[in-house]
Amino acid sequence: MRWTLDKIDWDAFDPSKVDTETMEAVKAASLVEANAPDYVSYLCNVFQDSSEIQDDIRQWGREEAQHGEALAKWARMADPEFDFDTAFQRFRVIQGIDTGAIESVRGSRAGEMIARCVVESGTSSFYTAIKDATEEPCLRQLATYIAADEFAHYRLFYESFKKYEGELPSVFRRIMIAVGRVNEADDDELSGAFYCANYSEASDVPYERKKFADAYQKRAFMLYRRQHTDRLISMVAKAGGLKPQGKLVRMACAFAWRFFAFKQRQLMRSAV
Ligand SMILES: [Fe+2]
Ligand SMILES: [Fe+2]
Repeated sequence: MRWTLDKIDWDAFDPSKVDTETMEAVKAASLVEANAPDYVSYLCNVFQDSSEIQDDIRQWGREEAQHGEALAKWARMADPEFDFDTAFQRFRVIQGIDTGAIESVRGSRAGEMIARCVVESGTSSFYTAIKDATEEPCLRQLATYIAADEFAHYRLFYESFKKYEGELPSVFRRIMIAVGRVNEADDDELSGAFYCANYSEASDVPYERKKFADAYQKRAFMLYRRQHTDRLISMVAKAGGLKPQGKLVRMACAFAWRFFAFKQRQLMRSAV
C-alpha cells in the first residue's frame, strides 16, 4: 500500500469547513469504492490467463477497498448519523455485478482494460477536483492520497492493456469502448450510491435513477475546473489510442469544458 489510514491527521478535522454537498458526494463515493471486491472476482475471471495480472488486480482491489474505508471514516466524522453498513447493504441490492462472468462485458480483455482506464481517469480527476476545492484539511489530505492511487491504477491498466493490444487493433473501436464506458457514468452505480448514502429507509423517499444520478452529478460536476476536465479527457483519449497533446484531443478538451460548464449551470437549477 502506498499509504494507510494512520497517515491521515484525523485530529486536524474541522467541521466548520465541511461543505454539505461535497460530503454527500463523498458518502456516495465511499459505497462505490467499498464495492471493489466484486470487481476483483469479475476481473480475475476475465484475466484467468495471467496470474501476474490477477495479483495486480487483487492489490488494486485492496487499495480501492481502503479508499472506501477512509472515505467512510471521514463521512462519519462529517455526519455522525451516516450509517455506512446499512447504506452499503442497501446499495448492494441496487448495484450487483455478475461475479460469475468469465468473459469481459466489453467483448475482449483489451476492451476491459480500456474501460478500467476510463474509470480510473474519472476517479483520478474527481479526487483531484475534491482536493483542489475543499477547505477541510482531512478531506484534502485524503483526496490527495486517493487521487495519486487512482492515477497509479490508470497506469497499471494502461500498461496491462498493451499486452492485449493485438485483440483490439482499431483505434475507432477503442474510442467507442471508451466513450461507451463514459456514458455508463449515469447508470445505477452512482445514482444508487447517492440514494443509499443520503436517504435512509426511514426517509420513505423512493429510488429514482435519473433523479439521483442528477443529484450526484450536480455535486461532482460543481467541483470541476478546466484543468480537471482537461486531465480527464487527455487520460481517456490516451486510453483510446489518441495522442494526448494532439489537435483532436485539444479540441475535445475545449468541447468537454464547455459541456461541463453548461451542465454545471443546468444542474445548479435542479431541485435535488
Ligand atoms: Fe478508488
Ligand atoms: Fe482506482
